[in-house]
Amino acid sequence: MHVAVILSEYPAGLEVALKLGLEVIHVHEKEFPDGELYVRILEPERVKSNNVVLFSTTYPRQEKALLKTLLAIDAARRAGAVGITAVIPYLAYARQDKMFLPGEPVSGSLVTWLLKSAGAGQLVTVDVHSTRVLEPFQDKAVNILVSDLLVARALNYLDNPIVIAPDKGALERACYAARAHGLNCDFLVKQRDRITGEVSYVPREISISGRDVLLVDDIISTGGTVAEATRILLSKGARRVVIAATHGLLVGEAVRRLEESGAYRILLANTLSTKHAHPLLEYVDITNKISAELKRLLGI
Ligand code: R5P
Repeated sequence: MHVAVILSEYPAGLEVALKLGLEVIHVHEKEFPDGELYVRILEPERVKSNNVVLFSTTYPRQEKALLKTLLAIDAARRAGAVGITAVIPYLAYARQDKMFLPGEPVSGSLVTWLLKSAGAGQLVTVDVHSTRVLEPFQDKAVNILVSDLLVARALNYLDNPIVIAPDKGALERACYAARAHGLNCDFLVKQRDRITGEVSYVPREISISGRDVLLVDDIISTGGTVAEATRILLSKGARRVVIAATHGLLVGEAVRRLEESGAYRILLANTLSTKHAHPLLEYVDITNKISAELKRLLGI
């Protein structure tokens, strides 16, 4: 039997668990006065000899969320779970999927190794920045793409848009979503200063004059990437630019930056526990897709 353990990091896990008809096992979570974390699975006897589906996500407070997830996996293993599937819609640190500069770690792979070492047998995530970091799980990792759902919603605002990736790395995601809706896709060429993080674009011929444009990316962090891309697309004559990004971290002044860029609307998936309220922002519920993928994966 499969049972669900849901960490407070990902409350939407409850909707997924209910859609799957999973029994939910409650967890006691607390933080000690010195900042250390504590997790206890209540009624651990209900975990024994069962398959645990553990729901968490790793933003905000990435380090604490990650550690709490590791503690919960360890607790489920020690309580006698026969299998543990970690469902982590936003996988933090996945952008560091290789050594970009000498002396760096490969943080993304380290995170997935830690999840596996703690006892997770399967990992389900959503639109991970780089699938390379899933390698420790080999064929036991599932990356659910949701850009097709974001594009479906964007079509409420746009007429026959061209789907644009803000950099070449995002092209596969953008084209996947474009194909799903019979649209064309193209990309911009982004450069990021590895030290300052500043984003700039290399000129590239792209025919968007008078067209609606849908900019598809995985993460909006500071907003620098999509804000600059929007400005460029509008300056090249785009009629309207809608941004569709899976994970809206929206740190610091991101929302203001997006507002100033001239974007018409920003669509985000509900992969995090935090939501920002702003007239430009709209969240798309992806729990049905996660449930469907889990149903297929777990055979329930
Ligand atoms: C980078 O390649 C990612 O796909 C995102 O474009 C990036 O993380 C967004 O960061 P920011 O919003 O700070 O530009």
